[in-house]
Amino acid sequence: MKEKLQEMRQEVLKKLQEVKNVEAIKEIELKYFSRKGELSTFLRGLKDLSLDLKKEVGGLANQVKKELEDKLLEIKTEFLHKEGQANIPDDLTLPGKILTRGGLHPITIIQQEIEDLFISLGFMVLDGPELESDYFNFTALNIPPLHPARDMQDTFYVFNPQKKIQDLDLVMRTHTSPAQIRAMKKYGAPLKAIIPGRCFRNEATDARHEHTFYQFEGLMIGNNINFSNLKSILELVGKKLFGENTNLRMRPKFYPFVEPGNNGEYTCFLCSGKGCRVCKQSGWLEIVGAGLIHPSVLLAGGLDPSKYSGLAFGFGLTRLAMLKYGINDVRFFNSGDLKFLEQF
Ligand code: DAH
Repeated sequence: MKEKLQEMRQEVLKKLQEVKNVEAIKEIELKYFSRKGELSTFLRGLKDLSLDLKKEVGGLANQVKKELEDKLLEIKTEFLHKEGQANIPDDLTLPGKILTRGGLHPITIIQQEIEDLFISLGFMVLDGPELESDYFNFTALNIPPLHPARDMQDTFYVFNPQKKIQDLDLVMRTHTSPAQIRAMKKYGAPLKAIIPGRCFRNEATDARHEHTFYQFEGLMIGNNINFSNLKSILELVGKKLFGENTNLRMRPKFYPFVEPGNNGEYTCFLCSGKGCRVCKQSGWLEIVGAGLIHPSVLLAGGLDPSKYSGLAFGFGLTRLAMLKYGINDVRFFNSGDLKFLEQF
């Protein structure tokens, strides 16, 4: 009996090895495994054996049957796949594959929100170089060489091997404002644009200061652009970012490229203006620098200040993200720390 079983085992395995298509496998299935198949008949015959023999051969027979069935299924599946007719459903009880997905950086989330708002108001979204000429970053913005206003924004001067040291003229841009001049030169007037981007300063870094951060610049130039236009745009942005009950207050502040220059402050959204730690008990959050574009800046952009006027503003995107998400250390943004980034 045992020999017969072993013989059949060898026979089936050999045949399975030689098959070339699903048809052939089905034939083997029929010949051995169907109800009247050779293996099934053999197994049925075991019941007529003596108890001892049954014990001896029975265990082995079941083992062989299992082995052959497994092998047959394996080869059959392989051929079904090969022949493109696999209709064996996936095992839905298996755990699913985990897809790892990236997410948006918190600054990108806010930037996109702001872009959507300004696009809906008819603004273009422009870009400017991070490595900027000293001229665009300072001089064209009414901050001439040696002017004390240059002290407000120290940056990284980039060595230009073609120039003598005194003529260094490339800097990592300290703000997005130089892109104003580029936009004017390229598009002329009338002009409505925002320019989001990365800026750099030579800072001693701490929880509130970082050498690399994000801003977005806005400008609108036309025939009679005035302070009311500026105020209404800033009010709109405030309500969009911090909610309908947000108020704006504008206080004079010196920025060389605007006149009059202002600091725009919004009702603190954390305490609704009552005063808290974040707004230093004032009820207001300093968010935006703004003003009416200085005539020298329009000139540097190739526009005639007697014909055109304009407004400009600069928001700290990084600062907005810190406020919105309650982030208390600016250094998280560039840290690449997944524990931080995965929260957004
Ligand atoms: N560039 C300024 C800064 O980085 C922000 C700013 C102030 C931008 C006033 C403007 C403006 O366009 O009108 O501090």
